[in-house]
Amino acid sequence: MTTLMQERPEDGPAIEALIDTAFGPERFSKTVYKFRDGVPPVPELCFVAYDHSKLVGSLRFWPILIGGHVEAILLGPLAVDPRRRAEGIGAALMWHGLAEAQRKGHRIVILVGDFDYYVKFGFRREPCDRLELPGWVDRKRFLARALVPGAVDNLSGMIGKWLPAEERARGVA
Ligand SMILES: CC(C)(COP(=O)(O)OP(=O)(O)OC[C@H]1O[C@@H](n2cnc3c(N)ncnc32)[C@H](O)[C@@H]1OP(=O)(O)O)[C@@H](O)C(=O)NCCC(=O)NCCS
Repeated sequence: MTTLMQERPEDGPAIEALIDTAFGPERFSKTVYKFRDGVPPVPELCFVAYDHSKLVGSLRFWPILIGGHVEAILLGPLAVDPRRRAEGIGAALMWHGLAEAQRKGHRIVILVGDFDYYVKFGFRREPCDRLELPGWVDRKRFLARALVPGAVDNLSGMIGKWLPAEERARGVA
């Protein structure tokens, strides 16, 4: 039986190994990793799937800013153990993560990933039409989802690394 729970510090090494298997070391060169460098994930939005004592899935979200001030969350990485795919573990992590994010008051989720996988969770391309990323992105994979009605209508601007409110107020880049 697979159980979902919030990530704990001791899950770290198994998560890193799983993400490495799923995405490879070249993942660090991807544009979205710029938002993760030096910024911790949202702790209450990091989830793991366990089958007994074996970690079989992981989902994390990172805080980001749109246009320097609109708070959003970046979904990913999402990874499932290759031996346990197509059993619904990814979907369970996705629905749990999105519901928890909504419950905690987040409004906008952005991701760069396979449209065919994420469309069933309500992600769309159109809200990203006037958004920019600080690097190359395949626009077919640049997706957004509202957690409250209307939250992704009329989005525009550059997506950037999250900064604490006091640094935003001081205009720290
Ligand atoms: C993507 C991933 C998280 C899905 O996890 P999972 O537990 O196998 O997913 P689920 O069991 O919820 O869903 C399986 C379904 O999604 C489909 N699917 C899996 N990966 C897909 C992808 N990249 N694109 C489109 N569909 C995909 C499967 O074919 C399967 O379809 P079915 O329900 O019609 O049989 C997992 O395959 C993984 O870790 N992949 C490596 C990382 C990766 O490629 N991510 C791509 C998205 S960025």
